[in-house]
Amino acid sequence: MHNGNGTIEVRDIRLQREDTTNLREELVASLTRPSSFRSIPSILLWDDRGQELFEKIMDCPQYYPFRAELALLSGYSDQMVIATGQSRLIIELGAGNCRKTLAYLTAVEKRRIPTAYFAVDIAPDSLANSLAQLLENMSSFQYVICHGMLGSYDDCVQLLEDNDAFGGEDVLFLWFGNSVTNLPWKTAADLINHLLCTKSRRAKLLLSVDGCRNEELILSAYDLPGRQSRLFMQNGLIHANAVLDDKVFDCADWDFEGSWDPVSAMHNSYHVAKRNLTVQVDGQIVPFTKGEKLHGIMSGKWDSEIVGRLCEAAGVTLERNWTRPVDNFGKSMTLV
Ligand SMILES: C[S@@+](CC[C@H](N)C(=O)[O-])C[C@H]1O[C@@H](n2cnc3c(N)ncnc32)[C@H](O)[C@@H]1O
Repeated sequence: MHNGNGTIEVRDIRLQREDTTNLREELVASLTRPSSFRSIPSILLWDDRGQELFEKIMDCPQYYPFRAELALLSGYSDQMVIATGQSRLIIELGAGNCRKTLAYLTAVEKRRIPTAYFAVDIAPDSLANSLAQLLENMSSFQYVICHGMLGSYDDCVQLLEDNDAFGGEDVLFLWFGNSVTNLPWKTAADLINHLLCTKSRRAKLLLSVDGCRNEELILSAYDLPGRQSRLFMQNGLIHANAVLDDKVFDCADWDFEGSWDPVSAMHNSYHVAKRNLTVQVDGQIVPFTKGEKLHGIMSGKWDSEIVGRLCEAAGVTLERNWTRPVDNFGKSMTLV
């Protein structure tokens, strides 16, 4: 059953293909909002360079989410595979380096269930490298076959809606890395609804969420002493220049700031103007005063109550939750 020739097919499902028009429009709209709402869409952080930088973040001891989630998956994957049922089709959203995926697929392989696994991500080289590494680590597997899909979450939803390529096969979606909390609440709820509430197939979702509430841990995980967080954020500015086809942002003009808001249970990362400056976006002059912030990415720290509310908003039922009692990081894995 294993991908016999040692290569993995990556299907390009991007609806925009190489055309960055929509991203450009979204970026221009985000930059020209009233001052306190300006942002760089977080999707710009995740190009191939961003993935390389994020790998370095995951290797840092202060970045607890990676270790906590890997430990959770390593400890409970067998239980999770039993609970998620006999899906022969697994689609992972935002698969990244697939290091956690291996723990889950190892448990699937043990159950001897012939399974097609599809990794979905938006960074082409990184996706190819992650799948090559996964294939190497799965060289003895006989039941799980890996594939890649290059595209966004929305491209994946569209593919599933338009296309009967997967027939009426039951699907298990994996969405690891607390990535759901990087999206605005309504976008996240709508996406889960589109994935799961479909008449054409039964679907489940195994979702990882970080519910840590320790301010010190959170702040040090998102502003690493070795500047990895800052370089990762700066890459968003560099990618924005590429999308706008102009040197709109000079990284030297921008600092980084992370802040934790216990009320909204959200960590926010910002670019901060080091001086009074203007940027020119599509002919519009956008002024920033010294200290003014430009939003880069948010990461929610959601406990089970918030996850329950998200499920309700998405119109899905929470079936089961796993946490590690010894772990004070609040990482949980939820099956809906
Ligand atoms: C926080 S990382 C998590 C990576 C991996 N799942 C993990 O747990 O280590 C987020 C991943 O989602 C991908 N991603 C972000 N936005 C996406 C989108 N709109 N569509 C598809 N993938 C996306 C990024 O490229 C990145 O690999």
